[in-house]
Amino acid sequence: WARRRLRPPSGSPPGPFAWPLVGNVLQLGRLPHLTFCKMAQRYGDVFQLRLGRRAVVVLNGEAAIRQALVRQGGQFAGRPDFPSFRLVSGGRSMAFGRYSELWRAHRRLAHASLRAFSTASGRSRQLLEQHVAAEARELVRGFVRRGAGGAYFDPCPLFTVANANVICALCFGQRYSHDDGEFRALLGRNDKFGQTVGAGSLVDVLPWLQAFPNPVRSVFRDFQALNQELHDFVRAKVAQHRRTYDPRLTRDISDAVLGKIEHGGGGAQEGLSRDYVEGTMTDIFGAGQDTTSTALCWVLLLLLKHPHLQRQLQAELDRVVGRDRLPTAEDRGCLPCVEAFIYETLRFSSFVPVTIPHATTADVVLQGFRIPKDTVVFVNQWSVNHDRHKWKDPHLFDPGRFLDGEQKLDRDLTCSVMIFSMGKRRCIGDHLSKLQIFLFTAILLHQCTFEANPAERLTMDCIHGLALKPLSPCLHSSRYLPMGTLSV
Ligand code: HEM
Repeated sequence: WARRRLRPPSGSPPGPFAWPLVGNVLQLGRLPHLTFCKMAQRYGDVFQLRLGRRAVVVLNGEAAIRQALVRQGGQFAGRPDFPSFRLVSGGRSMAFGRYSELWRAHRRLAHASLRAFSTASGRSRQLLEQHVAAEARELVRGFVRRGAGGAYFDPCPLFTVANANVICALCFGQRYSHDDGEFRALLGRNDKFGQTVGAGSLVDVLPWLQAFPNPVRSVFRDFQALNQELHDFVRAKVAQHRRTYDPRLTRDISDAVLGKIEHGGGGAQEGLSRDYVEGTMTDIFGAGQDTTSTALCWVLLLLLKHPHLQRQLQAELDRVVGRDRLPTAEDRGCLPCVEAFIYETLRFSSFVPVTIPHATTADVVLQGFRIPKDTVVFVNQWSVNHDRHKWKDPHLFDPGRFLDGEQKLDRDLTCSVMIFSMGKRRCIGDHLSKLQIFLFTAILLHQCTFEANPAERLTMDCIHGLALKPLSPCLHSSRYLPMGTLSV
């Protein structure tokens, strides 16, 4: 039973009745973004919940989200003062840090350093491409080995290591073997991170759950341990870079950040002390290592679900790239079907359905509703990507929606997919990850054919947290070599 509160006299957004102590926690369900879509139908695109004692405003649909994050960007660019957020990146996180002048300097520095080693220039793009191509080759070899004799296997752990290796090479100039147990264990704890900071997490809104043994308390303890572990990993790498730093040669992102903060690059004058080097590198490595591999798991799952599309993409690759070289970033503009497939995967899966929680930085008015300073704000990206007024049959997987009558990519429509958020907190790794997803997808499809295990139901079920991760599909991979051999 829920008593509907229409617009209360204070002018706060409407929302469901909140129970004492827990508020609306029990109504969130396993997939909060779907619950929010249902609630939005009843209360409107801007509504309010209570999680524990916290008021949470939920934003749905492009108009409300754009109004808040772009037009009133500064007012919605805060982060909640959650205890878990303070544990990220040694307490020096830009991604989880409060909005301030110092934060702006930190974000500028992180963004510029990441771009300089990924997409800023032809040279950086070329280096990035070499890293991705090397990892993709390694993946193809791993896939073919594991698929020998018709065996089925789970590709997702291999994606995780391959992507982490790309970001590790950019950050620290180093890669790890797929057999490195310690590196794999470090990466394997990502899901626990997302379960703590995602919209459905109870860790921060019901702090009294820390007082006695229960599953939420153990999730929080795991979260503490994994943040410490990741930060220690990064600290060791940064210490190595400090020892060998040479101002004449910027080897990687760590050197770029060290140069800006510790060697006269302006960071110190803006208030960024030495420990922001480790904070920045933990943010970039932490955010970059798992997101892109989750995207690739979705790409693969949807290729298995739609074998005719797999054949169509391979035919496009054969036509445009041929068999005597691998696809490169230069081919991107000539492979509209591959691009359309990727955008539809991002839209359909909406695998970061709700962004990292935001908070208001001042008392604000949004669409006529009053929202006090420091209110937690959830941004429901899923609602944008599944809005039936915007997308025809949004529940159907149809890459063709991104192609016009001449089979060209509809760039305006691709910009309507919302997965990297918008405004002041928009993801800083958007260009890097889109390029990486393209290269991995194109190279893997150029080299391999993937088949689902007929003995298993191909499910869309997910592990859910900040990101939705498909439960690993089991597949068989064989060489795709229709017109000759290209050995990688
Ligand atoms: C933030 C998505 C890859 C670095 C975010 C946010 C989303 C997101 C939704 C939260 C924005 C908000 O709170 O409004 C994604 C997706 C990725 C991806 C879908 C891959 C497909 C990356 C990569 C990096 C990265 C590769 C870095 C190498 C960051 C950082 C933030 C962030 C540092 C915090 C920004 C801030 O708070 O100002 N990302 N991301 N992301 N992302 Fe990504």
